[in-house]
Amino acid sequence: MSAEQSEPAAVEFRSVTKVFQTGKQSQTALDSIDLRIEHGEIFGVIGYSGAGKSTLVRLINALEKPTSGTVLISGSPVTGVPESRVRQLRRDIGMVFQQFNLFRSRTAAGNIEYPLKVAGWPRARRKARVAELLEFVGLSDKARSYPDQLSGGQKQRVGIARALATSPALLLADEATSALDPETTGEVLRLLKKINRELGVTIVVITHEMDVIRAVADRVAVLAEGRIVELADTFDVFAAPAAAPTRSFVETVLRNRPDTEELRRLEQRHGGRLVTVAVDDEHGVGEALAAAVAAGVRFEIVYGGVSALQDKTFGSLTLALHGPPEAVDAAAERLGDGAVLVSSVEVDDRRSA
Ligand SMILES: Nc1ncnc2c1ncn2[C@@H]1O[C@H](COP(=O)(O)OP(=O)(O)OP(=O)(O)O)[C@@H](O)[C@H]1O
Ligand SMILES: [Mg+2]
Repeated sequence: MSAEQSEPAAVEFRSVTKVFQTGKQSQTALDSIDLRIEHGEIFGVIGYSGAGKSTLVRLINALEKPTSGTVLISGSPVTGVPESRVRQLRRDIGMVFQQFNLFRSRTAAGNIEYPLKVAGWPRARRKARVAELLEFVGLSDKARSYPDQLSGGQKQRVGIARALATSPALLLADEATSALDPETTGEVLRLLKKINRELGVTIVVITHEMDVIRAVADRVAVLAEGRIVELADTFDVFAAPAAAPTRSFVETVLRNRPDTEELRRLEQRHGGRLVTVAVDDEHGVGEALAAAVAAGVRFEIVYGGVSALQDKTFGSLTLALHGPPEAVDAAAERLGDGAVLVSSVEVDDRRSA
């Protein structure tokens, strides 16, 4: 065990299972979950509906009890401890919800102030803190607005300010952007990132959208039927998704690799040898293509895209290569050496005939 491993995690699940019993029916929502969420990271949890995401969140803030196993926050168990301890643990956890959960009868400032009242802060300190929070989330001018007078994104920023009021070390966001349009989603995600980077708050982002993971998560766990089927750095998950559910999630946002049907279409349209290569900071295609051209190979980029992910170059290019068979072979091989060869489709039947 490394020194780092022995430090208490922000959140730790030790073989946690949660079974819901409704009458004679039992439903295993989470099945033997082992998980460490480190201090200071944005940890994403993605899964389809019913995968167990909300159950996972509710176990972290002790709204549910594990059927077996232990959940620890900064090394302290959240269950089997006195209720006063649970309340103390919860005070150090902020929650952000899909439906905002604001009091309609209170202004933005009033909503943000509420947890401070509950915590017994004196009035003057509360007012100062609310002003600071409104400023932080960019809503100083909406202090006196009621939720009904705010847009979805503004409501969520109020919800986030309220969650941060008592300076929790951990923020749980369960589908916090699912009710928002893509642009507003971007604003809220940027705010979450700012909270993480500037305030050092550990954030758990629960979502069913891979775009959300891509935008903010340092690491991601993929939940399927109550089990973690993949857990890795976000970049690695996008670059090489291993489990089937992960691949479907990644495909929803990455349009830079042709699927089988698209490949067939490309084969018919372009002929030649189709080669798909992954492009990253270490692996470009420039040198291999220069060599190919020198050897008499013509190429065309027929599919793909290169962009940035987690500040690293990330993409895929599909090329159609034409020319003398040996030279095409050599080019395909060289492209496959430099970058990761994802697929190489032989289209020109005349070669093998
Ligand atoms: N209180 C409960 N009683 C009985 N079954 C429950 C309860 N809460 C959750 N479940 C079941 O546990 C499983 C996981 O539910 P959970 O709400 O954690 O999923 P989720 O991943 O959050 O889904 P969604 O994306 O729809 O929010 C589901 O099969 C659900 O029906
Ligand atoms: Mg849920």
